[in-house]
Amino acid sequence: MARFLLLCFLFAAALTTSLTSAGDNNHVYSPCSDSTVAVGDGFTFGIAFAANDSFFGPNRSVQYSPCDHQRLSLNGNSELAVFRPKVDEITLLTVNTSSSSSSYRPDSSKGYMVAFAGAKYAARSVPIMVANNDNVVTSFTLVLKFQKGRLENLFWKKDGCSKCTGDAKFVCLNNEQCAIKRQSCKNQGGQVDCSLGIQLAFQGTDKHYTALNSWYEVANLKQYSLYGLYSNLKDSLSSQFSSIF
Ligand SMILES: *[C@@H]1O[C@H](CO)[C@@H](O)[C@H](O)[C@H]1NC(C)=O
Ligand SMILES: *[C@@H]1O[C@H](CO)[C@@H](O)[C@H](O)[C@H]1NC(C)=O
Ligand SMILES: *[C@@H]1O[C@H](CO)[C@@H](O)[C@H](O)[C@H]1NC(C)=O
Repeated sequence: MARFLLLCFLFAAALTTSLTSAGDNNHVYSPCSDSTVAVGDGFTFGIAFAANDSFFGPNRSVQYSPCDHQRLSLNGNSELAVFRPKVDEITLLTVNTSSSSSSYRPDSSKGYMVAFAGAKYAARSVPIMVANNDNVVTSFTLVLKFQKGRLENLFWKKDGCSKCTGDAKFVCLNNEQCAIKRQSCKNQGGQVDCSLGIQLAFQGTDKHYTALNSWYEVANLKQYSLYGLYSNLKDSLSSQFSSIF
């Protein structure tokens, strides 16, 4: 049986580029229910943390949604985080792993994460590595792609290692992701706050066929200061946050 712990519902820090934010008319709050959303609505999705293999069926050829309890039984060795960002707002989600009270400690036993939402139209991302025995990845970009307001796909965008080459605190994994050595993390006695930062981008169309474009805004922002908030170059996520909050 899936025994999920509600890990955290920290915050969706919304840095909107417009002040015309409409109200939230989406009354679906479960990540395992279907909804059709418009710009400005809240949208609930989940992220499950577990070992890579646990996201697949018995013969390892099919990846099921964590909402599919009949076919996928994530056992006790998994954690769940639920978020509700606003559709088409540039958003940074955090999973705080540095405090002693946080239940999720990134390590190899729950070293992968899958983002998911929906029931009949269950969408899920592929598993992405968060931690192995030696390293923790702390910066992610998650793209939520909608078609006519229904979530169609979620995928992780890997930015490569240009942000961390030459910095001894980081290692480059598979030429794809910058990772921090676990021994530098606060929850391992080190100095770095190895909390996870997940930048969201929205793509596609909402239920009124309005194009979602925070994706393009994020791409543009990379050249400006905001991107530095998410970059792995900084010592820790907390110091990045202190410059905006
Ligand atoms: C794995 O399971 C899927 C779905 O049940 C099935 O279609 C496929 O043939 C299986 N593959 C192997 C190698 O058993
Ligand atoms: C995760 O597990 C699946 C199924 O066993 C496998 O095909 C895939 O290569 C694994 N991914 C990684 C990154 O190990
Ligand atoms: C995580 O929580 C700790 C303790 O509450 C706090 O000191 C730290 O700044 C938080 N980190 C982030 C990234 O929010």
